[in-house]
Amino acid sequence: MGFDPIQYKTATRQQWEDGAEAWDRWGPTLEAWLGEATDRMLEAAGVRAGGEVLDVAAGAGGQTLAAARRVGPAGRVVAADISPTILSFAARGAVRAGLTNVETLEADAEALGTLAEGAFDAVISRLGLMYFPDRHLALTGMSRVLREGGRLAAMAFSTADRNEFSRSRYRSSVTGHSWRRPSPASPARSASARPGPWRPPSRPRGSARSASRPCRPR
Ligand SMILES: C[S@@+](CC[C@H](N)C(=O)[O-])C[C@H]1O[C@@H](n2cnc3c(N)ncnc32)[C@H](O)[C@@H]1O
Repeated sequence: MGFDPIQYKTATRQQWEDGAEAWDRWGPTLEAWLGEATDRMLEAAGVRAGGEVLDVAAGAGGQTLAAARRVGPAGRVVAADISPTILSFAARGAVRAGLTNVETLEADAEALGTLAEGAFDAVISRLGLMYFPDRHLALTGMSRVLREGGRLAAMAFSTADRNEFSRSRYRSSVTGHSWRRPSPASPARSASARPGPWRPPSRPRGSARSASRPCRPR
C-alpha cells in the first residue's frame, strides 16, 4: 500500500502526544547535545533583540526558550506544533524560566495559513522538517510569514545511515520506541535523501539564498 500522508500525520501527532512528557524530561540532555547547533541555527536565522520569531515543530520548547532569551522582552516567539500536549510543556518551561514573550500555537507545519503574511523576522525549526510529508509545502508556508529580509533556518537529521541518534539506545530511552529503518514510502526520519541544499520555496520571501551545512551534535 502507498504512503497515506493523512494517516501518517495522525499517527505522528499521537506519537508526540504520547511522547511529550519523555521529550520534556530529557530536555536538559537534549539541550547539552544540541545546544551548539541550536546557537548556529539562531545565528543563521538572524534572531536578535526585539525580533519576532516563529518556531515550527517547537516541541517542549528547548530552542523556543533559547530564541526567547535572545529576542528579549521587546521581542516574541510563537512556538507552533501539531501536538498540544508537548506545547503545554513548552508553555510551562517558559513560565519557569520567567519568560513572558512566548506564545504557543497548535498548528500543522504544512498549514500555517492562520498566520499573517510577513509577520515574522525569523522562522526556525529544530528536528521538525523530517516529519513533514510535504516539506516543500511546509517551507513555502514558513517563507510566506517572513518579512522582507527575514530568514528561515532549520536543523534536521541527515540520512538514516549517518544518523547516530536514530540508531541509538538513547533514542529508545527518550521516545520509548525502538528504532526501525523507515519504509521507502515514508517521509523517513531523515532530512534529505542526499546531501545538499534544500529546494527553496517557489516564491521565497526574505533571504532567497539557500544553503545547508553538516553539523555533528556533541
Ligand atoms: C523531534 S521533536 C523536536 C521538538 C523540538 N523542536 C526539539 O528540538 O526539542 C519533533 C516535533 O515535531 C512535531 N511535529 C511533527 N509533525 C508536525 C507537523 N506536521 N506540524 C507541526 N509539528 C509537527 C512533533 O509534535 C514534535 O514536537
